[in-house]
Amino acid sequence: METIVTTSRQQTLLVADAIEHVVSAMPTPCIGVSTGSTPLPIYAELVRRHLDEGLSFANAHLFMLDEYLGLPEGHPQAYRTFLDEHLVGHLDIRAERLHGPNVHARDIPAECAAYERTIESLGGIDLQVLGIGADGHIGFNEPGSSLGSSTRIKTLAELTIADNARFFTDAESVPRHVVTQGIATIRRARHVILIATGAAKAAAIAAACEGPVTTTCPASALQFHPHTTVIVDEEAGANLRFSSYYKATFDNKPTWQRI
Ligand code: GLP
Repeated sequence: METIVTTSRQQTLLVADAIEHVVSAMPTPCIGVSTGSTPLPIYAELVRRHLDEGLSFANAHLFMLDEYLGLPEGHPQAYRTFLDEHLVGHLDIRAERLHGPNVHARDIPAECAAYERTIESLGGIDLQVLGIGADGHIGFNEPGSSLGSSTRIKTLAELTIADNARFFTDAESVPRHVVTQGIATIRRARHVILIATGAAKAAAIAAACEGPVTTTCPASALQFHPHTTVIVDEEAGANLRFSSYYKATFDNKPTWQRI
């Protein structure tokens, strides 16, 4: 795990550069895309590079990390709508290349299994962009999630419902159930970039990077991943004990540029 503490602007540019590198270098790039407010500046930067610099996503496949269950198709808070609105709808990529389990199907577990097969059949995820919840969740793998899990149905933790209530009229309207890539699914991505900004993520980032590997902090499972880069701003990195080392690493150029 390589950890970089920098400004939020640098974070945006570093992650956009990593995505651009994969999209330009691979014949069939497979990118895992997360939702939440943290990746929004990165998606805006990718859209800008597409419009101003001709960065093409025509050969790419995008993979959803998670999705709510029980929202009608096209609901403004559905993650597919979010990704269409902020990313896919502005790029030269066909809508069917945004892959995710069909959460409107009757047999959701079968959809989850089919999603895993789709990821595998397209060669696996080259680069997964990940946010983190204040409780250390990745995707919607809440504390207590199996570190060996694949895509499946999960129930949201109360803290996540409270955190995500800001996107709905009230906490009552937040769906209780979701589908999420599992922790093993995420760990199969060849490169994972975990991003966080703001003081509310400081405890989760410290637990993920420097705490024990435990289901209590699902993001800590990334410590066993062979190629994870954590990029945080000063506030989100405030509880890291070894942050001066991480700054030095950044000055020496992050090793993810080797990909
Ligand atoms: C939700 C998503 C996660 C995301 C998290 C953080 O719970 N399922 O994938 O990482 O929110 O969101 P934000 O970036 O808004 O803090």
